[in-house]
Amino acid sequence: MSNYHTRVTIIGAGPAGLVLGHLLSLAGIDNLILERRSREYVEARVRAGVLERASVSLLELAGVGDRLRREGLVHEGIYLQFNGGRHHIDFRELADGAVTVYGQQEVVKDLIADRLAHGWPTVFEAEATTIADADSLGPRVLFRQQGDEHSVTSAFVAACDGTHGIGHRSIPTLTTYTLDYPYAWLGILARARPGTDELVYSYSDRGFALYSMRSTSVSRLYLQVPAGEDLGGWSHDRIWAELKARLESPGLVVNEGSITEVGLTPMRSTVSTPMRFGNVFLAGDAAHIVPPTGAKGLNLALQDALELASAIIESVYEHDAAGLEGYSEHCLGRVWRAQRFANYMTRLLHLDYAADEFARQLQLADQRGVVDSMAEATSLAERYVGPALDARSERIVKWFR
Ligand code: FAD
Ligand code: PHB
Repeated sequence: MSNYHTRVTIIGAGPAGLVLGHLLSLAGIDNLILERRSREYVEARVRAGVLERASVSLLELAGVGDRLRREGLVHEGIYLQFNGGRHHIDFRELADGAVTVYGQQEVVKDLIADRLAHGWPTVFEAEATTIADADSLGPRVLFRQQGDEHSVTSAFVAACDGTHGIGHRSIPTLTTYTLDYPYAWLGILARARPGTDELVYSYSDRGFALYSMRSTSVSRLYLQVPAGEDLGGWSHDRIWAELKARLESPGLVVNEGSITEVGLTPMRSTVSTPMRFGNVFLAGDAAHIVPPTGAKGLNLALQDALELASAIIESVYEHDAAGLEGYSEHCLGRVWRAQRFANYMTRLLHLDYAADEFARQLQLADQRGVVDSMAEATSLAERYVGPALDARSERIVKWFR
């Protein structure tokens, strides 16, 4: 058994762990990332695709935005489609902003390439098994690599290890609030030119569908299906037929192509509180999950990482622990706002299998409201695009640069 020491141990090389490690390394704070999967595996994992404006600024200011700037698709709005009409929500006009469509695995690839090029310590195929002495000044992470057990001691542990990680198990005072939706998303990736310039969120009486993309030649599309759906019943032909039935309308054609990936994403909301116990901190999906309709999961993970990096940097260099003390409360305020938005978008756009006529008429009124009321459309646009990066975050990202 080998024992290592570093300033910050980071469990997980997803977006949260990689951004945290990147910002700390830029600021000269030693950190070690442990990732249970291989580099190839994490780089190939297809997940979210929409970056809010603050996430784009963060990646650019942190020096990992070159490819994002070149290949990301800047979207100045989305389409909402229901009741036979397609309505444009104009982000530029309503919120003076835009989002960028760029796959999560591309963000992960950029961060890993930069990290390895700098030689910042990263161990793949290393599974953290236990966080010991969480409430002490020197918490210890035990991990297993190629059958051998090792341990690492540090001043701080950041559990950025997603939904199935060990982070939340190490916080004895944790409470988790959960909301399960009765549906899931069947998602595909296809080599097909997108038939739309911006994302189309479509309600239909067959269920919700989303037309998204990854590039001008790769489409990403989703279908609402009942929770726990068996993908075995979904041939490629059936998937295309259903996408066409739910999305196609005058001026919108679904272009077919070869499907390279099919997956099922459960629709679930969870919030775990507090996000800190002693010197162990939770960040990203380790602490919260949002249903994907609001496109917030990846963005929340980046914001937690930025908040934690800020708090650690201020405590190390300015002996100011206020950021660490307030970390959980600060993040949870934002998390609940994102839950509220994701819940709003989900209920606005999905077919509620159990709805009676009253509930259906309320949903129709909500759909008309966004289109008829400038105030409601503005609220949606502002929340989708998210706020700009604040001054404190800019200062942190530029630390020592
Ligand atoms: P993750 O990306 O999950 O990273 C956690 C990392 O920790 C992983 O690499 C994991 O291998 C590693 N790890 C776990 N346990 C250990 C351990 N014990 N030791 C070492 N390493 C460990 N969001 C959207 O907005 N839109 C979407 O369409 C969308 N689709 C999704 C589809 C799926 C299947 C999933 C699971 C999520 C999706 N999300 C989506 C959510 C979004 O991708 C997440 O919010 C985002 O990945 C969170 O980043 P993270 O770094 O917190 O966690
Ligand atoms: C995606 O492109 O994967 C995507 C886009 C918007 C969402 C969810 C997922 O709301």
